[in-house]
Amino acid sequence: MQKLVRFSLPEVIFGDGARFGAVHALKALAVERPLLVTDAGLIAAGWVEELSQYLQHHGVPVTIWSAVTPNPKDHEVMAGARQYLLEDCDGLIALGGGSVIDAAKGIGLLASHGGDLHDYVGIGRTREPLPPLIAIPTTAGSGADISQYCVITDTSARCKMVMADKNLIPDMSLIDPETLRTLSPAQAAQSGFDVITHAVEAYLSIGANALTDSPALEALELANAHLERFAQDPTDTEAGRGMALACLKAAVAFSNAGLGLAHALAHQIGGATDLPHGCVIIRLLPSLLRRYAVAAPERTERVARALAPSDAGDRAVEGAVRRLEALRAALDCLTPTDVPQPELETLRRWAEGARHDVCFLTSPWKPNAEELVALLQECWSCVGDQ
Ligand SMILES: [Fe+2]
Repeated sequence: MQKLVRFSLPEVIFGDGARFGAVHALKALAVERPLLVTDAGLIAAGWVEELSQYLQHHGVPVTIWSAVTPNPKDHEVMAGARQYLLEDCDGLIALGGGSVIDAAKGIGLLASHGGDLHDYVGIGRTREPLPPLIAIPTTAGSGADISQYCVITDTSARCKMVMADKNLIPDMSLIDPETLRTLSPAQAAQSGFDVITHAVEAYLSIGANALTDSPALEALELANAHLERFAQDPTDTEAGRGMALACLKAAVAFSNAGLGLAHALAHQIGGATDLPHGCVIIRLLPSLLRRYAVAAPERTERVARALAPSDAGDRAVEGAVRRLEALRAALDCLTPTDVPQPELETLRRWAEGARHDVCFLTSPWKPNAEELVALLQECWSCVGDQ
């Protein structure tokens, strides 16, 4: 018997200039007093001034809230929710990368539902729709503008809280590749690694289905074709459009299929170290791909062929691993070597945390904690290889 499939997406407007659809989007959603959630980088790049002036020119008063940092923190979201209520806002615009969009989701959640973020960790914990949210993603990476996930750092426990809920899907996503041109090469590379990992894990997820397989594979082909060019020069508009489309397709796939262990582990490591998400997952994915190849050989070979088309059959997985490691060596501009080898106790805590993460549920490989510790040791040992 064929399994049942559910598929949810926001309304999407894709293309150069899509950000100027914000006025129409606000009208369509009957939002009159939006909170514009963004961050300091977007202000410095000039995008916030452009959008807020455009909105004001069209008679929309805007309250700007920009106190979001990468790996958005619980206290930042709580402060944003207070600001939302204080200003009597009736909707949200998120202009930024995944951190900004996730923070906006958290703000909408707390402002409408009250309580604490911990109350909503897990799957489907909201009671009703959130305030309208219009996302304008400015990185080609997280897919938070499409997805039903919201990931916020628990600063007390130093791990990430993951909420998965249909009500966390933005109402509208205005994907404008023009906004990518102010990314740094490092940001472009990290975002691209996230796209690749979303596509791989969505295809290998036990929740994958006929509606998610095609976009996952197409996302990988697009990322393979455009990432190096884009990360070397984020002002390359053609490469930027390719990565924006890859990001969208990967997000369509993973939001509906689920993810896997790269994300389950990254939620622990990122919460504890504050390392950029893309940097963490690209270090996990090669070793994980070899484990996935044992747990789900046929589908791993198929997804590997999308990354390494010239390596067929048994060689496909090793070809994909080489491709991922080459991308990491060429593009990874970060310094994870600054993070010392964690204590065994820390690795055990991360392994246990990952086994309780939402993304573990859809992983095709279900390791015990010891197997995960071994994987982490293997990944850490290659940190200094470059
Ligand atoms: Fe991700």
